[in-house]
Amino acid sequence: MTTFFFDGQAYDAKKGESVLDTIVRSGNPINYSCKKGACKTCLVQHVGGQLPVGAQRGLSVRLKTHKYLCACQCAPVEGLKLKAVMAQDLFMGARLLSRVLLTNNTMKLVVKLSEMMDCKPGQYLHIRRFDGLTRSYAIARVLEGNIIELHINRKYNGQFSGWLFNTASIGEKLLVQGPFGQCRYLNDYQQDKLIVIGHGAGIGAALGIVEQALAQGHVGEIYLYHGARNVAELYLNKHCLALMMAHQQLTYTACITGSGAIGSVDARCVQAQPSELAASQHPVKPNNRIFLCGEPAAVVKAQQQVFLAGFNVANIHVLPFEYKDLRVVSRG
Ligand code: FES
Repeated sequence: MTTFFFDGQAYDAKKGESVLDTIVRSGNPINYSCKKGACKTCLVQHVGGQLPVGAQRGLSVRLKTHKYLCACQCAPVEGLKLKAVMAQDLFMGARLLSRVLLTNNTMKLVVKLSEMMDCKPGQYLHIRRFDGLTRSYAIARVLEGNIIELHINRKYNGQFSGWLFNTASIGEKLLVQGPFGQCRYLNDYQQDKLIVIGHGAGIGAALGIVEQALAQGHVGEIYLYHGARNVAELYLNKHCLALMMAHQQLTYTACITGSGAIGSVDARCVQAQPSELAASQHPVKPNNRIFLCGEPAAVVKAQQQVFLAGFNVANIHVLPFEYKDLRVVSRG
């Protein structure tokens, strides 16, 4: 047994348990969701004892400086002292500025943050409403330093997305935490060939990554693919085509993944799985870099496909849309 303290209470961790495992086993409340160090929902603050190795892996400099760590990634050490993090320590205020329906199931949401945030398209934010219900959404565009555009899919029976679509009013107060994720454009990628794939509403973040690359003077070729189940879901088709016309280095392809007719959308629309098409069109080379955004099942499948095709793991950037309940008790 290893004894550590959380909010002044002693806990005895069994061999192999993380701090989170022990607290959950005790029945005491603690926020968590992924248990993989990805969602950052289980952050706690280190206040005494030795800081366990690896507990801050993947955290931003700001979070590390404030001595936060992920309880799910923290192997307890004897005498470790931790305390709960208050939501106001991590979240900033925000207001809903506008809502526009893009398709029957996709909405553009614009939120204004109370402070400037250094975030980029392809990263994601945790958004919390008045009752604590929290979801993660990808950033499609940063319109100004504190005005963020998100493309949100309405989930079947989705509590949060249903509320955003039907009930939330303009001016609604929200809390925002982030940004998270590494699926973003960096200046180091300037010479690389970029292959950017958006599945469903993931085209918002995918296009945002492309626009960010162009704005930062990207030199290499860029290939943008939108995977949609049908033609009606190609809600950014005209915009992507116009962007392609304006930038010689950019090639855009719309991929219909369902069996419905394509009709005559345009010459850049094909019936194909975008990741399969991309893997067949771009033989693996060291400077090929791939970005995958959108529905988790499609992104995970695409990630496996491009990995098996030989892409270097370090050159595969993923932004899966996870729809998890990030409250004290996860939806399980
Ligand atoms: S990072 Fe710990 S539960 Fe997700």
